[in-house]
Amino acid sequence: MDKKFYITTPIYYPSAKPHMGHAYSSIIADFFARFKRIDGFQVHFLTGTDEHGLKIQRSAEKENFDPKQFCDQISETFRNLSKTLNLTNTDFIRTTEDRHKKTVQYLWNELLKNDDIYLSKYSGWYSVSDEAFYTEDEIEEIDDNKRSISSKSFVEWIEEESYFFRLSKWEKPLLEYYDNHPEFISPLSRKNEVVSFVKGGLKDLSVSRKSFSWGIKVPNDKDHVIYVWLDALTNYISALNYPDKNDKLYKDFWPASIHLIGKDILRFHAVYWPAFLLAAKIELPLKVYGHGWILSGDEKMSKSKGNILDPIEIIKKYGLDPLRYYLIKEVSFGNDGNISQERLEDCINSDLANNFGNLCQRVTAFAIKNCDSLVPKDIEFQNDDLIILNKYKDNLEKIRKKIDNQDINFYIEYIVNSLFEANKYFNDQEPWKKKDDLNRLNTIVYTTLEIVRKISFLLFPIIPESSLKALKIFDLSENDIMLSTIENNEFLTKGNKINKIDILFKKIEKNND
Ligand code: ME8
Ligand code: MG
Repeated sequence: MDKKFYITTPIYYPSAKPHMGHAYSSIIADFFARFKRIDGFQVHFLTGTDEHGLKIQRSAEKENFDPKQFCDQISETFRNLSKTLNLTNTDFIRTTEDRHKKTVQYLWNELLKNDDIYLSKYSGWYSVSDEAFYTEDEIEEIDDNKRSISSKSFVEWIEEESYFFRLSKWEKPLLEYYDNHPEFISPLSRKNEVVSFVKGGLKDLSVSRKSFSWGIKVPNDKDHVIYVWLDALTNYISALNYPDKNDKLYKDFWPASIHLIGKDILRFHAVYWPAFLLAAKIELPLKVYGHGWILSGDEKMSKSKGNILDPIEIIKKYGLDPLRYYLIKEVSFGNDGNISQERLEDCINSDLANNFGNLCQRVTAFAIKNCDSLVPKDIEFQNDDLIILNKYKDNLEKIRKKIDNQDINFYIEYIVNSLFEANKYFNDQEPWKKKDDLNRLNTIVYTTLEIVRKISFLLFPIIPESSLKALKIFDLSENDIMLSTIENNEFLTKGNKINKIDILFKKIEKNND
């Protein structure tokens, strides 16, 4: 297979258990991974946990845990969440693993060798919560407390000996790179923020710490640990066994197709990471996409604000696929979005139960009763049928393009419209009135069944379990889901058995008062 796709999520801090924001990034990444897979790509999908640094050390101390034991426990809850969310990640990396430490130290030496690292002294503001340095004009003071203006997290003053990365040297090359690769930073609105930040001037970056020990040691200087972001970002290549350039993973999958992240960590991914890579003469990822935030009220949902929504609770109440569907559909991708149970229930009732579930039930029940539970054989397409069937093939190229532009909202709207259209087709054609024209009746049933197959394929990246349940109608399973069948206009095999399936989505009773 020569089509390769490598997608990553951020590696999350295991400082507290995962929340809806983490679930969101991971579900979106899984959506892309699944889409690419059914489109014939070999996919590598990486997620994991970011376990070093003062933030984790302090969280562990607070709970009277040794940091490694602390991480073992919480990292496991992230690993479990991946399973609960039905993610198809092909790897899960922890930065405390040896494979990762080796790569980070190698990269450090490369930077040192190229004269991109030097020893000096750092003094300035630091947010442990963000693991980020801030300048005077990036902080504000409220009630004697200094905070980052952008993240609102508290900053503290630090002064210590530190190694620096010559970030300033990469200011021009970065700006050139952004210019020559207009899609490297997406969406466009975020790109502009980054470009003006870089144009404002880049100062060298402190990349080691001396005052605590929970991190990867600087090679040849045991007093320093490597700055947690230099450590963390490297996960994207340590998971491919860099520096072994002959390694199959590295050869197949680097450069990454897309680093999917939240906009909170754009600067690290769109400025520091490419600068490290340029300095180490490693190819840059093709795209960094900074999505918006899931809000709670008007604020970013985050553990430090205590306003989090637990994805596990929502899944227990509504099921996984409705949550996946809701997050993918209702948050306008790239922008911030609020989540409300009210809207989630609307999605379940109108889109999933009424639109998709109902279409599946109606046509199968009808086929079981009127077509001997078989995919009809004697059919003759008319214009109405061909128009609706060919649409899928005709639009496939457009859908692929939209996906490559991360236009998830287009994708899901396309499906919702197709569902409306399919239901309307079945209604308008009134097969129940065609009992004396069996050829026509059969053709309508065949056409509708074929649409159910196609739409179930398209829904697989969004609601995989439900899509597979629907495909049981035709005894199709995951391996059969290939967009090439749509491209090649391959239709259902005539005469195959039609199976009755359980209700796909239960409607939620809503109070109308
Ligand atoms: O920043 N809405 O880890 P983190 C949407 N370890 N997405 C959200 C979100 C919200 N309210 N809250 C979190 C770190 N996220 C670093 C990353 S990568 C080399 C190192 C998601 O645990 C979003 O993807 O703070 C965000 O960028 C990420 O979780 C931050 O997770
Ligand atoms: Mg964070």
